[in-house]
Amino acid sequence: MALIELKDIKKIYQMGAIQVEALKDINLSIEKGEFLTISGPSGSGKSTILNILGLIDMPNAGKVFINGNPVFTDEDQKYYIKNGKISREADSRICRIRKNNVGIIFQSFNLFPVLNVYQNIEYPFHLGIENIRGMKKKEQKEWIMYLINRVGLEKWVTHRPNELSGGQRQRVAIARALATKAPIILADEPTANLDTETGNQILQLMKEINKEFETTFIFSTHDQKIVDLADRVVKILDGKIISN
Ligand SMILES: Nc1ncnc2c1ncn2[C@@H]1O[C@H](COP(=O)(O)OP(=O)(O)OP(=O)(O)O)[C@@H](O)[C@H]1O
Ligand SMILES: [Mg+2]
Repeated sequence: MALIELKDIKKIYQMGAIQVEALKDINLSIEKGEFLTISGPSGSGKSTILNILGLIDMPNAGKVFINGNPVFTDEDQKYYIKNGKISREADSRICRIRKNNVGIIFQSFNLFPVLNVYQNIEYPFHLGIENIRGMKKKEQKEWIMYLINRVGLEKWVTHRPNELSGGQRQRVAIARALATKAPIILADEPTANLDTETGNQILQLMKEINKEFETTFIFSTHDQKIVDLADRVVKILDGKIISN
């Protein structure tokens, strides 16, 4: 059974009188442990797909399954389409599924500027995530320190993000996503704000972690050099998958 599956996904953005069809009948099935990139030119729909895979955004039609279970019910969809927003119950259900299954790495890192490296990575422990909720304080500390070492930041534990380079910040973001023990990690253009050499190192690190933990990585890029590092490439153009 697929870890995550998109079935006949459509996404339409309403911009005043104009409708932008960002995704047209997307079907995509991703297995546990894949290291996959979604590639395509600017505006092709990469971020839109990632946001739907990450349960950050809802499709206008179609279904998302995690471990075979539908995330959005037909009822959610009807309500959403009628009111442009989802019900509070659906929102809290989707939020729970998201935090227990998905770790996210952002293009612009999105670290907390007032928290140091350790505290940024510790942050997910405040969210009541099922996989890590039962960890004792000591275990938690060991896990965070393991991750800090794993991403090569042992000398920067008490430093804040503004004292770090872009590559180091992205390493913190990777460790923070991993801290949750989520089976799926999504990264929207994780190397776009980094120079080529640093970007390659970040991708290499993600790949090693993918092998070590069997975490599924799904990332987007329009950089051909980075596309070559993926095990599987899903190419999209104008909201449609053109090769898979
Ligand atoms: N919030 C929004 N409101 C209206 N239109 C949107 C919105 N977000 C995306 N779009 C449109 O949907 C289409 C797909 O956008 P998306 O951001 O998914 O592309 P992308 O492949 O990630 O591009 P990039 O490489 O520039 O990040 C584009 O035509 C874009 O203009
Ligand atoms: Mg994008």
